[in-house]
Amino acid sequence: MKKVYIGMSADLVHPGHINVIKKGAALGDVTIGLLTDAAIASYKRLPYLSYDQRKIVIENIAGVKEVVPQETLDYVKNLRKYRPDVVVHGDDWKTGVQAKTRQDVIDTLNEWGGELVEIGYTPGISSSKLHQDLKQIGTTPDIRLKRLKRLIAAKPIVRVLEVHNGLCGLIVENVIVEKDNQLREFDAMWSSSLMDSTARGKPDIEAVDLTSRMTTINDIFEVTTKPLIFDADTGGRPEHFSFTVKTLERLGVSAVIIEDKIGLKKNSLFGNAVLQQQDTIENFYYKIQTGKNAQITDDFMIIARVESLILEKGMDDALERTKAYIDAGADAIMIHSRQKKPDEIFEFCGHFRKLEKQVPIVVVPSSYHATYEDKLCEAQVNVIIYANHLLRSAYPAMMNTAKSILTHGRAFECADSCLSINEILDLIPGTR
Ligand code: SPV
Ligand code: MG
Repeated sequence: MKKVYIGMSADLVHPGHINVIKKGAALGDVTIGLLTDAAIASYKRLPYLSYDQRKIVIENIAGVKEVVPQETLDYVKNLRKYRPDVVVHGDDWKTGVQAKTRQDVIDTLNEWGGELVEIGYTPGISSSKLHQDLKQIGTTPDIRLKRLKRLIAAKPIVRVLEVHNGLCGLIVENVIVEKDNQLREFDAMWSSSLMDSTARGKPDIEAVDLTSRMTTINDIFEVTTKPLIFDADTGGRPEHFSFTVKTLERLGVSAVIIEDKIGLKKNSLFGNAVLQQQDTIENFYYKIQTGKNAQITDDFMIIARVESLILEKGMDDALERTKAYIDAGADAIMIHSRQKKPDEIFEFCGHFRKLEKQVPIVVVPSSYHATYEDKLCEAQVNVIIYANHLLRSAYPAMMNTAKSILTHGRAFECADSCLSINEILDLIPGTR
């Protein structure tokens, strides 16, 4: 029997997959190279089902002899390992993000005279259409909550963007660009205290109560499926924080970040230009512990935010606190900085990774915004939060429109910078 190799993600299994497997089985013994979460997330969206769930489905399909993990989108390593006579694939990878992968498969098979067999696209089936339909159906709190940990495990960098209403949620949910043979999208959303307050015309001083913040999240969750990280400021009193944790979990929020400050909270980007006081290590340790004890699921994350660099307390203080907070049970550390250069962040990450290999590092590059994601990734940062950019870009646009109408006494001049009436009517599905 010939050895047949078929690489697939097999998240939403449809007749197209069965066609490929049938064709393979007619040619020989089929080994499925099942792409791992990390392999899939390297070029497109994280799958709905975990690797183990997908494996159970695929190994029970008639014609499949064996399922092995394929750890990269690139087939070369597995092809050299299993040396198949034939690789079978749908012919839909000749262009687009997988074109290079396909050429490498052909070149590698040539090393031992193997053959690539491509079969025609199955009409009426499209994974992207299925994904679109799934997004319309929505998600459950449980699935959404778990997704952040899966993303952190599967991706070198998890990209997060600020959202303060359902419309922003839709942007984060749907925007995709193709760059360097990858489909890039945001992985998760950030409910920023600064932006949720600003959008309500209120100061970022914990004046917007939790119930109001939950209303925003509810609106966002009604129209999205991606996970969300919640900015809970100081977390309030430990006795209250335990209720916050339970409420967030119940909604399906994946993580909460609390910062080690006390008293009237002021935004970190002020640094010491306003009065800001850091909590004691002991008190904050207790708050983290209280939160961890309150949480019900295993997957919810409590992320401790260290403000030592913001308040110019020095690297040693930042590291001492980091150690203590991890000891208290923090699932990740957010290190904040308001420097224009990322040097202190890189220095922190260097020390941190010597101490601790696994605990994820979260950063918010608002002031050091010239730093590329690649560099943060090299420093072994896990999560990058773009904390305020949707509102910061919307405000000047809205202001210009308001001024233009006043200046000209009509709305003609600002029309080009507005969506057309048709575009706005078509923006939200179901409006028509
Ligand atoms: C927020 O987005 O509300 C934050 C990040 O907490 S920062 O504004 O930089 O403090
Ligand atoms: Mg905040």
